[in-house]
Amino acid sequence: MRTVYMDNAATTFPKPEEVYQAVDYFGRNLGGNPGRGSNKATLQAGSILMDCREALADLFNIADSSHIAFTFNITEAINIALKGLLNPGDHVISSSMEHNAVARPLHAMQQCFGIEWTMAPCAGDGSMDPNEVRKAIRPNSKMICVLHASNLTGTIMPIAEIGKIAREHELLLVVDAAQTAGVIPIDVEKQYIDVLTFTGHKGLLGPQGTGGIYVQPGLAIKSLKQGGTGSLSENLEHPTFMPDLLESGTHNTPGIAGLLAGVNYIKQEGIEKIHKHEQRLSRMLMNGLQSIPQVELYGPVDIDRKTAVISFNIKGMDCGELSMSLDHYYGIVSRSGLHCAPLAHQTIGTYETGACRLSLGYFNREEDIELAIRAVDELAVKQL
Ligand SMILES: Cc1ncc(COP(=O)(O)O)c(C=O)c1O
Repeated sequence: MRTVYMDNAATTFPKPEEVYQAVDYFGRNLGGNPGRGSNKATLQAGSILMDCREALADLFNIADSSHIAFTFNITEAINIALKGLLNPGDHVISSSMEHNAVARPLHAMQQCFGIEWTMAPCAGDGSMDPNEVRKAIRPNSKMICVLHASNLTGTIMPIAEIGKIAREHELLLVVDAAQTAGVIPIDVEKQYIDVLTFTGHKGLLGPQGTGGIYVQPGLAIKSLKQGGTGSLSENLEHPTFMPDLLESGTHNTPGIAGLLAGVNYIKQEGIEKIHKHEQRLSRMLMNGLQSIPQVELYGPVDIDRKTAVISFNIKGMDCGELSMSLDHYYGIVSRSGLHCAPLAHQTIGTYETGACRLSLGYFNREEDIELAIRAVDELAVKQL
């Protein structure tokens, strides 16, 4: 049985061939430790980091690529943003659709560090009215930290409008772009983003263990780690300039070589083409699922308001059993449960049941969608 991978919101698979080749090439032929000395391998490894920063800066319209620091995933990047920018007594506004990567650090900081946190409520389809953010602003508000698109419903948040509100009130805008980087355009200038966090292994098509954070020039951020950077080694004080400020210890250079290949692949194909392909398949899948009476579909119906993430349940069937049956009988890889997003499930009303999620990627084809619709239809009929 052919495997049909539809869990791209968790991690994209497969990767473009170039990504595998870049990781392999680095491991076999380069192997240097960037910034640690001046031998050829080290310099070549250093230029992979630089090229990747440049490629990402170009993708996100970031003027100075040295303000991008690499991390091991977006969770680390979000932790740096929250813990490096907030002080006790500060108030943060997020949405009620956040992933635990935002919600858990905020909860912990509320419990032990004395920050205040308000979740601006979202609608049942996961959408956010920017006015809810405005209403949540207090005199001690310092930051709006919000995800760009939900990993449960795909709902795209109005980042530029939220950014405008942030600017009007002199608040920082931190964006979790886990579900959108590489999939829909991001422009830190036009969207008023002060801090952009991203993960490398989803839409950017890179390997796991890669991610990063962009910090707007002039913004004072504290580092969570100190250590070797290969720069200013004579000082015991950790460097205060980006990216060294936020990068200590040896990088995941093979992973970053793969991430560079992933970002170059996206640019070569064109983000618009990738987005259109995913939208076309999403529309097809949603239409197919909507036509099955026992299916309960979540999130916006309008394809322009969402990414290619489609969550649903079959009435009367456990979502875990549904996901397992899709895998076992049809070879379809999906994800069930709470998707590390209990707040989002509370918002859309599926906290008790969870949901089954099919998330599409650039390498899915029409026949995958046809199979998924047929599979859900057959499982729904069996359920009756
Ligand atoms: C919206 C969102 N934020 C954060 C994360 C965490 O990503 P990572 O595990 O790469 O840190 C995810 C992962 O699914 C996500 O969907």
